[in-house]
Amino acid sequence: MNYIVVLPAAGSGKRMKAGHNKLFLTLRNKPILIHTLEVFEQDPNCAGIWLAVKPEERMAIQDMLEEHHITKVKGMPAGGEERQYSVYACIQAAKQEAELILVHDAARPFIEPAVIKKLAQKASETGAAIAGVKAKDTMKRVHNHIIEETVDREQLWIIQTPQAFQTDILVKAQKQAELDGFLGTDESMLVERLNIPVHVVESTYDNVKMTTQEDLLIGEAILQKRQQEEN
Ligand code: CTP
Ligand code: MG
Repeated sequence: MNYIVVLPAAGSGKRMKAGHNKLFLTLRNKPILIHTLEVFEQDPNCAGIWLAVKPEERMAIQDMLEEHHITKVKGMPAGGEERQYSVYACIQAAKQEAELILVHDAARPFIEPAVIKKLAQKASETGAAIAGVKAKDTMKRVHNHIIEETVDREQLWIIQTPQAFQTDILVKAQKQAELDGFLGTDESMLVERLNIPVHVVESTYDNVKMTTQEDLLIGEAILQKRQQEEN
C-alpha cells in the first residue's frame, strides 16, 4: 500500500539540552534525522517524504540529505511554533500527492518497517491507524500526589508515531482543529474529535522518541543490538 510520509523536524529539542535541534545529534556517527529518513528512503511503498524544518536549518539539512543520499524528500515547508502546526504545513504542501499519509516524529529513528506496513494497511482499510504499545507498569491516576484510582492496565496503551490516515480524513480533522483553536499532542486527537474510530496497531518498545539525554544511550544500545543481529 503506497503512502507518503510527513516528518515534523522543526523542533528545538529543549528537553535534550543540546543547545540546538536534537535531530542533528548523532547515533553511531549518523544524525538522528538521517536514521529516520533512511527507514522511509528504503521502503518501496513510501512514495515521498515531506519534512517540516526551521527555515534557518534548511540549508544544513539539504546538505545532509545530499551527503547521505536521501532522494525521496519532495518538500521542506517551514515548521510552526507547535508540532501540530509543523505537521499542518506539510499536509497543506503534500495533500494532493497521495490518498494515504503517515505522520512520524523525525525523533523516532527506530521504527520498524513491519509496523509501517501494518499501519498503512490498516489505515487504508479503515481510515485511521496509529502505533502503540501496551503499558508495562501499574498505572494510577494521581491528583496532588494522592491516588484517585488504579487504572485497568489492560486498556492502556502508550501511543507513538507513525500515525496513518486517509488523506481526506486528516485534512478535515486539521481544518476543524484550526476552526476551533484546538491544539493536540498528536494527530489522532484531531481525528478522535470528529468521532472517527482510530485503530491502534501494536508497535515495538524500541520505537522510542529521542527526547532526553538518557534516550541517546538507549538509542546506541538499540543500534548495537541490531548490528549484532545482522552479523
Ligand atoms: N517538532 C516540529 N515543530 C515543532 C515542535 C516539534 O516539527 N514546533 C518536531 C520535532 O522536531 C520532533 C517531533 O516534532 O521530531 C516531536 O517533538 P519533540 O520530541 O517534542 O521534539 P522537540 O519539540 O524538538 O523537543 P522539546 O519538546 O524537548 O523542545
Ligand atoms: Mg516538543
